Amino acid sequence: MVRITYIGHSCVFIQNNGSSVVIDPFIENNPQAVVPQKGFTPKLILVTHAHRDHLGDAVQIAKKNKAKILCTVDLATYLATKGVDTIAGNFGGKIPFEFGWVKIWPAMHNSATPDGTVHSMAASFVVSVGGKSIYHAGDTSLTSDMTLIGEDKQIDLACLPIGGMFTMGIDDAVKAVSMIKPRVALPIHYNTFDSIKVDPNEFTSKIEKLELRTKAVILKPGEQLELP
Ligand code: NI
Ligand code: MN
Repeated sequence: MVRITYIGHSCVFIQNNGSSVVIDPFIENNPQAVVPQKGFTPKLILVTHAHRDHLGDAVQIAKKNKAKILCTVDLATYLATKGVDTIAGNFGGKIPFEFGWVKIWPAMHNSATPDGTVHSMAASFVVSVGGKSIYHAGDTSLTSDMTLIGEDKQIDLACLPIGGMFTMGIDDAVKAVSMIKPRVALPIHYNTFDSIKVDPNEFTSKIEKLELRTKAVILKPGEQLELP
């Protein structure tokens, strides 16, 4: 059973049979983040891009758990100078792991480290774990590339930003769902800040009207869902 915990903002924690992967661990400076009291010991950290609200505490968590950080090569080179183990990939790369694999897709978004030294492009990921496929869109606008993601692999769970301002808003995220056709859609990247305040129920009701087989699920920070 693949268990997903929504830690908050864009941070999603995936567990399956002793494997654990966290994506975009923005925790310390996110007062709304809720971390599981037990078992938050990720061995792999995926970072979609270098913005503060995604890179977050990746370096500290990597050091504490002797975890590796997987991201695109420019950011990985930067993070290696901070004394963490990195796996540097790039768009199109499919990296095998004991639990399955991670494929790196582009996101239509930029990326700069908090100190401004590295400017690059943002990524999104498809994580295959326990036979399930989880797409994490990172920060992105709507792109027609999303059709390819659903064609490449049936997506069981799509984590999609809905907050607008810096990413897709609700209407574009609904269009993304119609392209990706995931089994479950989880809205992320909303209500953390005033500038991205939206009502996630608007997302779920618009998904229902699509008459796809996709089920939209809202999780509060700290809540979990299982992919059977
Ligand atoms: Ni960003
Ligand atoms: Mn962001």
